Amino acid sequence: MTQFQTIDIDDLQVGMYVIEFVRQDGDLAIKNSGFIHSAATIELLNKNGVKRIIIDPSRSKSKTEKEGTTLETVNASAKVTKPSGNDVSKALRLHSRGVSLQKLIHESIKKNRPFSATYAAEFTDLVVDFIESNPTAMGCATRIRKKDSYLLEHSLNVSVHLIQLAQHMKLSASDVQDVGLAGFLIDVGKIRIPDEILFKPGKVTKKEMEVIKGHVKLGEEYLQQQGYPEKIIKIVGQHHERLDGSGYPKKLSGDEICQFGRMIAIADVYDAVTADRPYRAGMTHQQALKILLSESQTRLDTTLVQHFIKCNGIFPEGTLVELSNGHVAMVFKENKDAPLRPVVKPFYSIKSKHYLAVKEIDLAKSESIKIVRQVKDSQLSIDFHKVFHEKMA
Ligand SMILES: [Fe+2]
Repeated sequence: MTQFQTIDIDDLQVGMYVIEFVRQDGDLAIKNSGFIHSAATIELLNKNGVKRIIIDPSRSKSKTEKEGTTLETVNASAKVTKPSGNDVSKALRLHSRGVSLQKLIHESIKKNRPFSATYAAEFTDLVVDFIESNPTAMGCATRIRKKDSYLLEHSLNVSVHLIQLAQHMKLSASDVQDVGLAGFLIDVGKIRIPDEILFKPGKVTKKEMEVIKGHVKLGEEYLQQQGYPEKIIKIVGQHHERLDGSGYPKKLSGDEICQFGRMIAIADVYDAVTADRPYRAGMTHQQALKILLSESQTRLDTTLVQHFIKCNGIFPEGTLVELSNGHVAMVFKENKDAPLRPVVKPFYSIKSKHYLAVKEIDLAKSESIKIVRQVKDSQLSIDFHKVFHEKMA
């Protein structure tokens, strides 16, 4: 069975079928996968800083054949017209590329098609580099969630949280890369769970729950088939294990769970409980930290939970807060010297239920306005992902 290939831009030729860009300096995004029908397209990609590309060799044609869908690209930066003042827009673009890559992995698994281990590793490299130069913007992107994209966004978000945590703990570059990659692949086994069980709207039966729990083993098997390193498979295999032995699938306890297995469990719980699901609203950042703290008495590693809390802070970028004047704002930038008074962007009035013209307020310089509490957009019946892209990006 033919496998997708990653190639350098210098090896791209007319007739090849392009699936996705893996590495680039610019902001070009693929609108439609398709054939390279002319040398001019290659030149355009080159000019826009595209470096590495995923192609489908099974669909490549001779240079003279001109039939089939032509590759269509779009300048992603054109979609985000207003400068955001920090790297959040760049982070959102990288995040959406991660979601595209997750989609490709999901499709290849559904079609039982091999998918090279290098794509996810190369993408993880990019995220590691990005977070190194801007530790908070990618975390912000994880909090501007798209409705109904949980399965695609969750693994990517877990990866981001793990890279942030590993860098905060000053782990070695290869350890940061390993936990990031394992996070990106955390629930890959879920794609092999039948949709009618995985997406069942009501309560699942005991038997169905056992099938869902099987995603860990299915994930390990898939990663083995694809040639991922053993250390990555081990971390993924331990993401539902708990220190008191109450986890699954092996009911490991204490030292049987490696440090990275303990870290991935924390990031997994945090992202899962903060996400809105069809059967329950997501928790605020603060509520999620409380859950982690309570679990750290028995099931999660106490020291690592403390690191996670310190790494994320009280009001991380992208969280929503209610202000004392009745406005809802997004935390835009942390104030290191005044952690309770970040820079915020109010965008909605709770009292009058209407949107506001967005401006920036530095709460450290504004004595009259304070943060009252953290809120979730679902509590206010707002689609913040939509609002962010329409008003704040
Ligand atoms: Fe899982």
